Amino acid sequence: MRISEAIRFATELLASSGVENPRREASLLLSTSINRDMAFLIAHPDYELSEQELNLFRQYSLRRAKREPFQYICGYQEFYGLKFSVSRDVLIPRPETELIVEQAIRFLQIRETRQFCDIGIGSGCISIAILKHVPDSFGIGCDVSKRALELARKNAQMHGVADRLRLIVSDILLNVDISNGFDLIVSNPPYISKSEFPNLQPEVRDYEPRLALLGGEDGLEIIQKLILQAKRALKPGGKLIMEIGYDQANAVSNILQESGWNDVDFIADLRGFLRVAVATKPPL
Ligand SMILES: C[S@@+](CC[C@H](N)C(=O)[O-])C[C@H]1O[C@@H](n2cnc3c(N)ncnc32)[C@H](O)[C@@H]1O
Repeated sequence: MRISEAIRFATELLASSGVENPRREASLLLSTSINRDMAFLIAHPDYELSEQELNLFRQYSLRRAKREPFQYICGYQEFYGLKFSVSRDVLIPRPETELIVEQAIRFLQIRETRQFCDIGIGSGCISIAILKHVPDSFGIGCDVSKRALELARKNAQMHGVADRLRLIVSDILLNVDISNGFDLIVSNPPYISKSEFPNLQPEVRDYEPRLALLGGEDGLEIIQKLILQAKRALKPGGKLIMEIGYDQANAVSNILQESGWNDVDFIADLRGFLRVAVATKPPL
C-alpha cells in the first residue's frame, strides 16, 4: 500500500468511527507507524509501505478507530515544550495545565526557598516542568497510583531532575511530612462530577484513568479536602495553585474564602473559562 492509499484508508475508517479531524489523525498515525515526519508524507505520496510498516499502521488505525487517544498509541505527549511518556496509567497532560506551571515558576523565582508539593502528580508533567525551569527548586510528588508514580519517576529521569523530586504514595497529603512547610502546593486534582462522567468524549471516558478524573458526586470532593490539607502544609505566605473544572470557580472561591485564604484569584484558559485557582496562606 502506498502513503496516499494508506491515508485514504485510515481517514475513512476514523471518520466512520466518529473521530474528529480524521485526515490529520490518519496522517499522524502513519507518520508514527513509519517513523517519518509529516513533511515526508506530503513529499512522498507514492512511497510503498513495507509489510511491517503496514501491519503496524493497521493496528494503530484500528486502535484509534476504537477511540483510543493518539497519545496512548504513540506513547508520548508534549507539555510545556517537553516530551513526556504517557500510558493508560496516567492522564494525558493538557494545555490548560500549563497555566499552573507558568504561575508556579513566576512565584518560586521570587521566593528565597523553593520547596513545592504536587498533589496527584500523574505523569509528572507539572513538577518536572517546574524543576526544569527553576534550577534550585525541590519537589515532592504524591499520588494514590503507584503506577503513575513509576511513570513520573521515568519522566523525571528522562529530563534529568529525578534527584530533586521525591515521590510518595499518598492520599492527598496523608503520608507526606509537612513539618517543614512548603512554599508552594500545585495540583491538578480529579474534578469531574458523577453526572458529567457519562458525557465525556469516549477517548477520555473509556481510556483515561477514572482515578484521575472523578472527583466524587459533585466533582468537588477531592478539591475540598485538598484545600484544607494544603493550608496546614504551607508556610505562611505560601501559595496554592490548582486546576479546577470550567464551571467550578464560584464553588471553589467560596470554599477558599470560608477556609481563610488570602488573595483568592482565578486564571482563565484560552477559551475564557476560569481554570486555575490561586490562593495565599495568610502571613503570621
Ligand atoms: C487529573 S490527574 C493529574 C495528573 C497530572 N498532575 C497532570 O496534570 O497531568 C489527577 C491525579 O491525581 C491522582 N489522585 C486521585 N485521587 C488522589 C488522592 N486522593 N490523593 C492523591 N492523588 C490522587 C490520580 O491518580 C491522578 O494521577
